[in-house]
Formats: sequence, structure tokens, C-alpha cells
Amino acid sequence: MDEKYLKLLIDLHIDGKRQGPGGVQETLKMIELAGLRHQKNLKIADIGCGTGIASIFLAKELSARITSIDFLPEFIDVLKQTVKSEYLTNIDAKVCSMDNLPFDDEEYDVLWSEGAIYNIGFEKGVKEWRRFLKKNGLLILSEITWLTEERPDEIQNHWDSEYPEIDTASEKIKILEKAGYSPVAYFYLPESCWTDNYYNPMQSRFTEFLERNRNSTTAQEIIEAEKVEIDLYGRFKEYLSYGVYIARRVDR
Ligand SMILES: C[S@@+](CC[C@H](N)C(=O)[O-])C[C@H]1O[C@@H](n2cnc3c(N)ncnc32)[C@H](O)[C@@H]1O
Repeated sequence: MDEKYLKLLIDLHIDGKRQGPGGVQETLKMIELAGLRHQKNLKIADIGCGTGIASIFLAKELSARITSIDFLPEFIDVLKQTVKSEYLTNIDAKVCSMDNLPFDDEEYDVLWSEGAIYNIGFEKGVKEWRRFLKKNGLLILSEITWLTEERPDEIQNHWDSEYPEIDTASEKIKILEKAGYSPVAYFYLPESCWTDNYYNPMQSRFTEFLERNRNSTTAQEIIEAEKVEIDLYGRFKEYLSYGVYIARRVDR
């Protein structure tokens, strides 16, 4: 991606509480379905953490040490500031890429990743990350997922060009099973995770973002692309969402 474009994308998203669809209630549901609530001294990695909404929540809710990873130093800096201002002592935030993780084999009880694995691809990610999980450790992630077996051409064509790995939950679960995991739970994010928690707050930043960037062509392009995505979601929301997958590492 062009550097100027990336800088502006960061500018648009850095002030958001989250950088993708999700919700505190849904993170809580993931914790409960995974049975993490009463476990002690968990080691969790949050991969593609953004400015750290899930990391902070996990650090406060659980007896756990969190390693938070993102490849954008700007997002990691925001997380580090929050860690400091909230006196959190159980988050280590690091800049690094999810395709070159500095983890030891069998280091983590839980690998957590909300709306981020698509950056290296679901199948590649779940295969490569497995070795970092302890035996019987849990992979907990969200991934864009078709909710129906058939879809209108417009939305199908859009996602085929954006992210051809988008698929139904049953196909994603098959990939997990083949990669050495056993499915524990699945649900998908409700509309509020997209609109109330992500798109609406982002839209309220559009005007200031454009002003700050003197209405540059690239800034306008970014806003137009976000508007297209928001419009598509609004018209086709019954066909897709982020699926949440919880799966246990199994060793044959
Ligand atoms: C859609 S955002 C989700 C952020 C956060 N998990 C949340 O739910 O708010 C995807 C994140 O993945 C990060 N990312 C993209 N490619 C990456 C890579 N190769 N390695 C690490 N992080 C990456 C982005 O910087 C961004 O913060």
C-alpha cells in the first residue's frame, strides 16, 4: 500500500475506540464460551490488536498476562499510553508483523485476534499460529463470514475481489479441523457491532478528518471507499458478518 494512503488510513482510524466491528458484550461472550473466566495466570496473545480495545478488556477481566501485537507503531503507541494512564501492569505491547511472530512454540494458553487474521489469510494464519499454542490451548478469533449459502451477485463480487477467502462458517470450521483444531463454539457479530460500535463513530470523524487533511484527493478517496463499504453493509447485512470462532488445539 502507498505510504501516503496508509498514513491517512491511520489518521482516520487512530481515534476510534476500535478499528473494526466488534463489541464489549461479544468479547465477554467469547470469554464465557471459552471458559476463561476462572482460569489463573493465563498467557494470551492479542494479534492485530489495533489500539487495543480487546487487550485492555482482557487485561481487566481475567487473571492473565497479555502480549499485544500490531504492525503499526502508531496504534501500539496509543495502547502503551492507555496502559500507562490506566496503571495496567499485565499488557506488553509490541510492534511486529503477524506473519513473523516472535513467540516460542507452545508459549500461549490463548491466541486472540479480532478482525485481523484476514491480513495474512485465515488458512495461512491458523496453520502458522498453531505452534504458538500450548497443547489444548485455544484459538479465539473473528473472521468475515457468509451467513447464507447463496448471495446476490453484487455483494459476492465485491468480496470475491476484496478477500476471496471469505466463506461460510462450515467451510471455515473445516479449515480449522484440517489445521489441527477442534471447534468449541461459533457465533456471529450482531448488527450493533458494525453500526453502533464501528461505522457510526467512524462517520462522525469524517468531516474533521477531511478538514485536517485539507480535503486532499487521497483523503477523499479514503472517505469514498469507507462510504461504499458502509452502504454495502447496510444493503446486504443479512448475508455476512464477522463470525467468531473458538477452537482448541488438538494433537494427534
Ligand atoms: C480491522 S483492524 C482490527 C483491530 C483490533 N483487533 C480491533 O478489533 O479493534 C486490523 C488490525 O490488524 C493490523 N494489521 C494488519 N496487518 C498486520 C500484520 N501483518 N501484522 C500485524 N498487524 C497487522 C492493523 O494495523 C489493524 O490494527
